[in-house]
Amino acid sequence: MVETEKKKVMLSGIQPSGDLTLGSYLGAIKNWVERTDEFDNYYFMADMHSITVRQDPAALRRRTLEQLAQYIACGLDPEKNTLFIQSHVPAHAELGWVLNCYTMFGELSRMTQFKDKSAKNADNINGGLFTYPALMAADILLYQPDYVPVGNDQKQHVELTRNVAERFNHIYGDVFKVPEPYIPKVGARVMSLSDPASKMSKSDKDPNGSIYLMEKPEDILRKFKRAVTDSDTEKCVRYAPEEKPGVSNLMAIYSAVTGKTFAEIEAEFDGQGYGAFKPAVGEAVVETLRPIREEAGRILKDKAYLESVYKAGAEKASYVANKTLRKVYKKVGFVAR
Ligand code: TYM
Repeated sequence: MVETEKKKVMLSGIQPSGDLTLGSYLGAIKNWVERTDEFDNYYFMADMHSITVRQDPAALRRRTLEQLAQYIACGLDPEKNTLFIQSHVPAHAELGWVLNCYTMFGELSRMTQFKDKSAKNADNINGGLFTYPALMAADILLYQPDYVPVGNDQKQHVELTRNVAERFNHIYGDVFKVPEPYIPKVGARVMSLSDPASKMSKSDKDPNGSIYLMEKPEDILRKFKRAVTDSDTEKCVRYAPEEKPGVSNLMAIYSAVTGKTFAEIEAEFDGQGYGAFKPAVGEAVVETLRPIREEAGRILKDKAYLESVYKAGAEKASYVANKTLRKVYKKVGFVAR
């Protein structure tokens, strides 16, 4: 690539609504880190999305900063990635409102995350939970990214973003770049260790189902040893997501952290059963997370450093975001300030 050629743009975010899990890492952050040098990168803490579900304010503040420390510890160098807090860039809320007016009730009603979250929070089905994808579209389109690296569960929201961008462009000309979702081959949907039918989630009430990035090695090993495997009689390590969802989930995790293929994993544990396999997956995950946990612990102690990172990030993000916002305001007919 010629030095002066503009790099393509990558953007993504994570809600600080719970502690980051192995799912957040394998489905999203790991891919961000691997592509850092190739792209111009924007990664943020989606705190505005988090309040669609009630949060304890002190815990939300703490987790937002922890998440930033963990992004850096995972390998996102703040010199090469713009790292910021969503609520520090007002353009997200501003474009979010505009895009609400270009997103259809029917589209929002079809979002599976809305259906799941409203079932789980039946006493608080608020407007923000419903219109959340319009804010997510704003998060994305403000930065004109080429790719949005996410896990499988966010694909539907990125597709809605594409539809909203196309609708807007159709009316006003080429305002937004229409981005592609970027989904990893393995690790795009890490399942709960205690219930392989449901996704590993930050907000899961059962802590045995999730592995957290900051978790102690002994707890990680214990959870993998107790991971639910399958009740089939064959008891061999074989990748078959329909028949053997528990073992297949562990294989996907092992593959994602070691880089081994499913065939290599089957050969490695041939004739050994689950007793040898489960602790081996646990050990491999411990070794992947150990440097992240240690580094995040160190960074978290340096509050002044974290502040300097998120302030510089917000400034750079605002500059880019405001350019898009000004264009949009002009197109829809707002009088220039
Ligand atoms: P969130 O916070 O639920 O998840 C963050 C990222 O982690 C991925 N992920 C998983 N991947 C594989 N297996 C799992 N078990 C797993 N759990 C989570 C998610 O797919 C996601 O990539 N709405 C988004 C946050 C957001 C956003 C954005 C993302 C707000 N604005 C703009 C991209 C672009 C969310 O709730 O992700």
